[in-house]
Amino acid sequence: MKATAKAPANIAFIKYWGKRDEKLRIPMNNSISMNLSGVSTTTTVQFSQNLKNDLVKIDNQVNKGRERERVVKHLDRVRMMANINLRAKVNSRNNFAQGTGMASSASGFAALTLAATRAVGLTLSERQLSILARLGSGSACRSIPDGFVEWKAGESNETSYAYSLLTPEHWDICDVIAVVGKKAKKVSSTRGHTRAESSPFYQARISGMTAKVREIKKALKHRDFTKFGEIVEAEAINMHAVMMTSKPALYYWLPKSLEIMLAVQEWRNLGLGVYFTLDAGPNVHLLCQKKDSKKLLSRLKRIERLDEVIPNKPSVGAQLL
Ligand code: PMV
Repeated sequence: MKATAKAPANIAFIKYWGKRDEKLRIPMNNSISMNLSGVSTTTTVQFSQNLKNDLVKIDNQVNKGRERERVVKHLDRVRMMANINLRAKVNSRNNFAQGTGMASSASGFAALTLAATRAVGLTLSERQLSILARLGSGSACRSIPDGFVEWKAGESNETSYAYSLLTPEHWDICDVIAVVGKKAKKVSSTRGHTRAESSPFYQARISGMTAKVREIKKALKHRDFTKFGEIVEAEAINMHAVMMTSKPALYYWLPKSLEIMLAVQEWRNLGLGVYFTLDAGPNVHLLCQKKDSKKLLSRLKRIERLDEVIPNKPSVGAQLL
């Protein structure tokens, strides 16, 4: 009763911020993302009669806190589906720093969902896996299908899931992550979502979403990089404006994040096709076409004191190993 799965983190082009249903993690709006080839979680789950309690190891550390609770709750969902009562050993490894807005909960819960269900002998469809992953962490539902993904907000547990819009091969765009902070964020995205509605700008954000989703899908389909980049950058600022005007206010950027964002504007003025986006953390994702990636990487070298630079291309979703 053992299985191992690997799942990518994903970057949201159109973001999920704010929920219609807190417990079921049903979002207010559809979101669009791309799975990332360079940042992933690999998780092994083994159910056994010899265990009295669930044992959760994340990045070689036995976890006893809130994170373990979240994993145990997810294992309970799987136990209920399979109608078993065995405890499990979970060993999860990230190839990047956790909790810094690189969507570790997304890759983590996607890998856990696939590994745990297969370990108990369940073979779920992609949609069922996406629904189950969503209950662990909203954005995890987008790390199940391949490539470019849409999460349909839906209105119930069964209707809120992600599916593949376009394969990873459809468009060879690059997402270079400029890592500016490896410390875990102070306010998790789970808590952050609950503040969204307190921003005076939230209703305006939500009312523009349907049109925005339609526009970006068109840009992705036709590989219109300028249109795509303009939508993505404006969308990131829109979400962060809501965060910063929430009560209490949420600031996920660091000074270095803003330095990079300003540099991106300058590089663009000089003719380099690059746009930025940020999730709930200080790291900046720089989007460019493959032909410009070398140039972008050499420009980034001029930014001082960057912790790390991680180049990504579009990736497949969760895979059984
Ligand atoms: O799935 P969560 O609770 O980690 O929320 C993700 C929120 C953002 O990363 C900011 C946006 C998104 O759509 O991924």
